[in-house]
Amino acid sequence: MNILKMIREDLANAREHDPAARGDVENAVVYSGLHAIWAHRVAHQLWQRGWKGPARILAQATRFLTGVEIHPGATIGRRFFIDHGMGIVIGETTEIGDGVMLYHGVTLGGQVLTQTKRHPTIEDGVVIGAGAKVLGPITIGKDSAIGANAVVTKPVPANHVAVGIPAKNLPRDPEHRVKLVDPDYFI
Ligand SMILES: CC(C)(COP(=O)(O)OP(=O)(O)OC[C@H]1O[C@@H](n2cnc3c(N)ncnc32)[C@H](O)[C@@H]1OP(=O)(O)O)[C@@H](O)C(=O)NCCC(=O)NCCS
Repeated sequence: MNILKMIREDLANAREHDPAARGDVENAVVYSGLHAIWAHRVAHQLWQRGWKGPARILAQATRFLTGVEIHPGATIGRRFFIDHGMGIVIGETTEIGDGVMLYHGVTLGGQVLTQTKRHPTIEDGVVIGAGAKVLGPITIGKDSAIGANAVVTKPVPANHVAVGIPAKNLPRDPEHRVKLVDPDYFI
C-alpha cells in the first residue's frame, strides 16, 4: 500500500476511534500510538528482509519515545490504533488483523520461553481495554472486546466480551448473556 494513503488511513482511523482527536496535523504530532505503528511498519519490513539488528534497535528507540514496545516480528494489519500509548507490550509471534484497537497498558504476551508461536492472534475488529493481559497462542475472535484489566488465557469466540480475572466469555449481544456470577450463591 502507498505510504501516503496508509498515513491518511491511520489518521482517519484515529479520528474515528478517539472523540478527543482534532485535526490530522495535530494528531500526527501528538499521538504516540500513531508514531508506534508507523515505526513498527518500518521495523517489520527490516525484520522480514533479515535486517534483524537494525529492526530491534528501531523498535527499542520507539519504545523509549512512545512507551509502546512492539517486537518487529509481530504481524499487524491495517487501521491499527493504540489510544494513549504507554505500557503496551506486543510479542514477537503476535498476529493482529485489521481494525484492531488497544488502550494503554495492554500486554499481548507469551506464557512459555520456547521459540514457537507463543503469543495471541487477534482477529479483525477486536478492542482490548486498558490494562488487559492476553497471554499465550490463543485466538481472540473477530469483533470481540476484552474488558479493561482482564487477564485472558483461553480463546475468546467471535463477537464476545471477555471480562475479569480469569476472563469469562459473554456474548456481546446482552440478550444472550448469562450472569457472570450466580446470584443464588449469595442468597
Ligand atoms: C468490556 C467492555 C468493552 C464492555 O462491553 P459491553 O459489550 O458494552 O458490555 P457491558 O458493559 O454490557 O458489560 C457486560 C458485563 O461485563 C461487566 N464488565 C464490563 N466491563 C468489565 C470489566 N472491565 N471488568 C469486569 N467486568 C466488566 C459488566 O458489569 C457486565 O456484567 P453483568 O452482565 O453481570 O451486568 C468495556 O466495559 C470495557 O472494559 N472497555 C474498555 C474501555 C477502556 O479500556 N477504556 C479506557 C479509556 S482511557
